[in-house]
Amino acid sequence: MAKKGLLEVQGLRVAVAGNEILKGVDLMIRDGEVHAIMGPNGSGKSTLAQALAGHPAYAVLGGTAKYDGKDLLDMKPEERARAGVFLAFQYPVEIRGITNSYFLRSALNALRRERGGGEPELDPIDFLQFLEQKLKAIGWDDSMMNRPVNEGFSGGEKKRNEILQLAVLEPRLAILDETDSGLDIDALKTVAETVNKLRNPDRAFLIVTHYQRLLNYIKPDVVHVLADGRIVKTGGPELALELEAKGYDWLRAGVMVS
Ligand SMILES: Nc1ncnc2c1ncn2[C@@H]1O[C@H](COP(=O)(O)OP(=O)(O)OP(=O)(O)O)[C@@H](O)[C@H]1O
Ligand SMILES: [Mg+2]
Repeated sequence: MAKKGLLEVQGLRVAVAGNEILKGVDLMIRDGEVHAIMGPNGSGKSTLAQALAGHPAYAVLGGTAKYDGKDLLDMKPEERARAGVFLAFQYPVEIRGITNSYFLRSALNALRRERGGGEPELDPIDFLQFLEQKLKAIGWDDSMMNRPVNEGFSGGEKKRNEILQLAVLEPRLAILDETDSGLDIDALKTVAETVNKLRNPDRAFLIVTHYQRLLNYIKPDVVHVLADGRIVKTGGPELALELEAKGYDWLRAGVMVS
């Protein structure tokens, strides 16, 4: 049986601060697939990620995005999150006054309520036990859990915290925006292991990265190149190797290559 399209984006155009950044993006991600998006700085990768998550600063000018059969663009950011769309930020935000552990538990319980599949909501004690396993998986102890979310975290700690959120929330569509940037080699492997463990036929990943190295650990099904607000090339994992060797100029010569 053909796999279902989990995310279907067509002709998506998005402006930031009055400038059109995405100029017609088409993207189709099926259940179970891992897609990587690469591309030059400023080409619109984070804009795509933020627009899919529903960040209000990213204005949709045109096009459509369907998620699990629903009109994604019509959903509020929190509705998207509750429906299983997760974005790990390129620049994770600090949340003053809310501890990591409280934040994660509230988010998880909100998701469980929404999913309505009989999963119990967790009280602080049960949650700690649940968290223990997730922390072990990402190689952390609980010392970061009672600190405000991301406040004072080092660059790599923030990225690792995004991965902890991913592991706890187990989204249906995980968008990772350069989660590998700034990570030491052990943390990079942890990111890859977490993603690989979560890979299953009902979950998909959209992974923005600059580095082919990550894709040695997480084998993508599809690799896209975003340049000047459009997907200019799509291929398999070998495309990432080709980009590593050749850079992006050959794709930017003004010709659409498919
Ligand atoms: N809030 C903003 N105000 C003005 N311009 C913005 C804003 N956010 C993004 N842009 C512009 O949109 C363009 C695309 O940015 P985006 O962050 O999507 O690029 P990217 O592909 O993620 O780049 P990188 O690889 O460096 O992360 C850039 O030229 C950027 O300056
Ligand atoms: Mg970016």
